[in-house]
Amino acid sequence: MKKLNIGIIGCGAITETIHLPVLKRTANFNISRIADLDLKNIERLKKKYNLDSKETTDYQEILEDESIDGVLIATPPHLHEKMVIDSFEKNKHVLCEKPLTIKVDEAKRMISKMEETSKILFIGYNLRFIPQYFKLKNLSKEKLGDIISIQSTMCSNAYAWPTKSKEDFKLDLEKGGGVMAEMGTHHIDLVSWILGKPKKVWCNIDYMDKKSPVYDRATLFVAFEGGSTAHINLGWRDYKANYLSIFGTEGQAYASLDKPRVLVTLKGLVGQPPLVVKATVRGSPYQEEWLHFYKAVKTGKNPLFTKQNILSPVAIVEKAYESAKKKGEFVDIGEEVYA
Ligand SMILES: NC(=O)c1ccc[n+]([C@@H]2O[C@H](COP(=O)([O-])OP(=O)(O)OC[C@H]3O[C@@H](n4cnc5c(N)ncnc54)[C@H](O)[C@@H]3O)[C@@H](O)[C@H]2O)c1
Repeated sequence: MKKLNIGIIGCGAITETIHLPVLKRTANFNISRIADLDLKNIERLKKKYNLDSKETTDYQEILEDESIDGVLIATPPHLHEKMVIDSFEKNKHVLCEKPLTIKVDEAKRMISKMEETSKILFIGYNLRFIPQYFKLKNLSKEKLGDIISIQSTMCSNAYAWPTKSKEDFKLDLEKGGGVMAEMGTHHIDLVSWILGKPKKVWCNIDYMDKKSPVYDRATLFVAFEGGSTAHINLGWRDYKANYLSIFGTEGQAYASLDKPRVLVTLKGLVGQPPLVVKATVRGSPYQEEWLHFYKAVKTGKNPLFTKQNILSPVAIVEKAYESAKKKGEFVDIGEEVYA
């Protein structure tokens, strides 16, 4: 097996807590170079994880290094577009943390550069690799008939997360996009991964913390091509909740982040408890994410992130915010998004 040489751009909280330990213990990867504005922090992490990677404050140095196959981009969201496009131009594959961007125009420019350079673009939607969510998607196809609707909820205290950036992008609408883009995009991605192309969205946003500089609660209704709908609840602060329920013509299925199982109720099983379908854990979801990235690079095929998969969550977030500003109007997600 030939290892991939990885350059890391952005060495903050997600890189420290997730990507460095996962890359270090996964034989397919070699952490060659690391870039961050804070060299002392890189030094600390090199000691913590016993790394001999070269460090720099200038990510272009990583891109100039021809021995690097791919980069992890784990910087604040408003910096992603330039970094992703620069990386493709220097012939690197990219695993970019979510949200890829909060703007459809930026996503389109990244996709166009990806297509022009034939490189892989992976996005850090690690919930797709949570075994019960993966299983839920497969079961919905195999057992539930036509999907009528999905209900999903994601709530978490974003302020408990140890963000390193001096100015917290989560508290800045332009940089982070608020709870929908910064955190909720995980569920918006899951739902559109299962249901396909979104056509219309309605959204209401609000403040659970009245002093928050950015909205921290959002409710979305999304109508998909073919007639399925989704109701998505998102919130920062206070309590944790993370689950999805799928309602189909042949049955219903439910999974939550905290239990590796899917509860399935099929038509005809009246009065009986739901079937418990176990979801086996292969490795951590983040390790799965990296192994899928490896496979995509090696095969040159990236079925998890097609143009439509990449654009749909960005378009839902952008149009949902527009709907929230219009106070209760449904907003069309026109075909021009995918053109
Ligand atoms: N997948 C997940 O579950 C998950 C969880 C948390 C965060 N994230 C995402 O990961 C990304 C980073 O989040 P974080 O919490 O690690 O943020 P962070 O603020 O802790 O880290 C960002 C790092 O980027 C560095 N940086 C900024 N500009 C740079 C530049 N020009 N060159 C090199 N480095 C630069 C900063 O110095 C900082 O260390 C965001 O997009 C966030 O939404 C994903």
